Amino acid sequence: MLEFPQLLTLYLLDPILIELAPSILAADFAHLGDQVEQATAGGASVIHVDVMDGHFVPNLTVGPPLVKSLRRATRLRLDCHLMIENPDQFIAEFAEAGADWISVHQEACRHLNRTLNLIKEHKCLAGVVINPATPVETLSEVLEMVDYVLVMSVNPGFGGQKFIPATLHKMRKLAEIRVARGYEYRIEVDGGVGMDTVAQVVQAGAEILVAGNAVFGKGDARVNAQALLEAARSASLERV
Ligand code: DX5
Ligand code: ZN
Repeated sequence: MLEFPQLLTLYLLDPILIELAPSILAADFAHLGDQVEQATAGGASVIHVDVMDGHFVPNLTVGPPLVKSLRRATRLRLDCHLMIENPDQFIAEFAEAGADWISVHQEACRHLNRTLNLIKEHKCLAGVVINPATPVETLSEVLEMVDYVLVMSVNPGFGGQKFIPATLHKMRKLAEIRVARGYEYRIEVDGGVGMDTVAQVVQAGAEILVAGNAVFGKGDARVNAQALLEAARSASLERV
């Protein structure tokens, strides 16, 4: 985990703190610890865990036991992206397993305010996620209380999909609203982020970059992470 002095140094070098959150969905699960270590050596500061239930999205992945193992294997913050129905039922378990950040989909939560409060009660940072078809306006009443907003730039369910450029305006809008209303949430992007799209998302306002295939898909995860972060940081300098 990055400690405060390291975060401060990063911030001074780069006033928009860009963080890379590799998604383990694209990693080799038989060598997960090594893969996470490689991504960390390349500058990753958060590990993104995609949790899918076969109902909210048409795919099944991992749950709290994997988070528990990861918690022992890395000091990086664990960002659990819950693509599940009834997330309230599992928040305590993810928090106990070692999640640092938990995000839930606006589309999956009938009582979004309650769910976000539940995440906070478990001492995790609370994030809200919107699918490509969901407008930013649906978050109007919760933006004040969230720690981060995750803009899906693909339809959730699978790694390795093509980035949807029509989602960029939502990152811009979220950045504008944050200034206009004096809110503090961070902006995360997830789906199809790679060397060809990273500059666009950063220029649109994204600060936490989830990348699965671009980090673990092919080649060396350390080299891939490093290249992505470099490209992101130079795009962020143009934004300042
Ligand atoms: C999609 C997941 C993503 C996915 C990203 O439902 O939420 O985190 O793993 O993978 P890439 O970066 O390969 O698009
Ligand atoms: Zn995700």
